[in-house]
Amino acid sequence: MLLDNHGRQTTYLRLAVTDRCNLRCRYCMPAEGINFAPRDELLTFEEITQTCVVLASLGVNKVRLTGGEPLSRRGLPDLVDELGKLFPTLSMTTNGILLPAHLDRLLTAGLTNYNLSLDTLRPERFFKITRRDEFAGTWRALELLEAAGLRVKINVVVLLGENDDELLDFVALTEHRNVDVRFIEAMPFNDGDGNHHLYLSSAEMLQRIRSRYPTLVADQNDVHASAVRYKVPGFLGGVAVIPAYSRTLCGTCNRLRLTPKGTMLNCLYSTKGLELRPLLRAGIGNDDLAELITQFVRGKHATGHITQRLEQSSSTFASMTSIGG
Ligand code: GTP
Ligand code: 5AD
Ligand code: SF4
Repeated sequence: MLLDNHGRQTTYLRLAVTDRCNLRCRYCMPAEGINFAPRDELLTFEEITQTCVVLASLGVNKVRLTGGEPLSRRGLPDLVDELGKLFPTLSMTTNGILLPAHLDRLLTAGLTNYNLSLDTLRPERFFKITRRDEFAGTWRALELLEAAGLRVKINVVVLLGENDDELLDFVALTEHRNVDVRFIEAMPFNDGDGNHHLYLSSAEMLQRIRSRYPTLVADQNDVHASAVRYKVPGFLGGVAVIPAYSRTLCGTCNRLRLTPKGTMLNCLYSTKGLELRPLLRAGIGNDDLAELITQFVRGKHATGHITQRLEQSSSTFASMTSIGG
């Protein structure tokens, strides 16, 4: 079991398989992209699988594939086949554009939870926010996932003056669609000033939603969840806010992260972690790896916040895409 010194058990791995992406969301990356990791610095699928075998033996039961855009990692379904044998819950956070070619195979491998990043319902705004004209691709993914009978979660990063006038349109989408719309507070990563002028608090979001939907009620929540869920009575889908900036999840944190280059992090805001790549490449055995990871998790600190990260890191705002969100 992976227990830390604060009584928390780690059961959820956020596995970032690439830092590359086919979009350039303004809150995530500059237009020219970032200094993407060279291929030979990425963990190979064999290295990821070895790490995951060890993590599964230590009680990790949920993996979320992230990035970058996880589907832009070539051959990803091959890795998912392996992970499907190890973990009961397999999830992915994706912009969906590359999903059509792979969906059947991913579903067969057990990847059944999809969080779709979609910040606007308007194609011209999609281009403005992501710098790519791909609204139709993400929308198509939503339709495919719905047709497969899955309840999709739509992640909307709320950006003041950019898409905050669409909150009610997104809520209206949940009337007849079996989706969860999740409004995320923008975190100050990337893009020079870190986008903080675009920040809208989740309290303000809820107030705006309530002014149109006064019957909004709290829904059930998992103690480990990033989202705080609500529902408009009678609507098929759900609404949630993710107070990514105004609240931390530390008290009930069950998460561990693995970056594309093989750094294990026990907090979204850590700037240092356990460098697994050299160990894996030197042929470390599973027992030694299990022991190292167990010690690493034990030392997880009680709490973290974005401000800590910014204080520690001289490289201003690291891109979310190299951490995996
Ligand atoms: P579920 O498995 O559906 O609960 O997914 P998730 O919310 O953990 O994952 P997702 O990739 O959809 O992330 C949604 C938002 O939550 C993103 O903006 C993440 O950066 C943010 N988030 C994820 N993990 C953490 C965390 O440990 N702390 C904080 N503050 N935010 C997080
Ligand atoms: N603030 C909040 N959420 C972000 N995401 C990416 N960058 C940021 C940011 N700066 C979201 C993506 C994706 C999830 C993994 O994180 O939109 O849905
Ligand atoms: Fe790509 Fe996600 Fe970053 Fe947008 S937020 S550029 S979809 S990794």
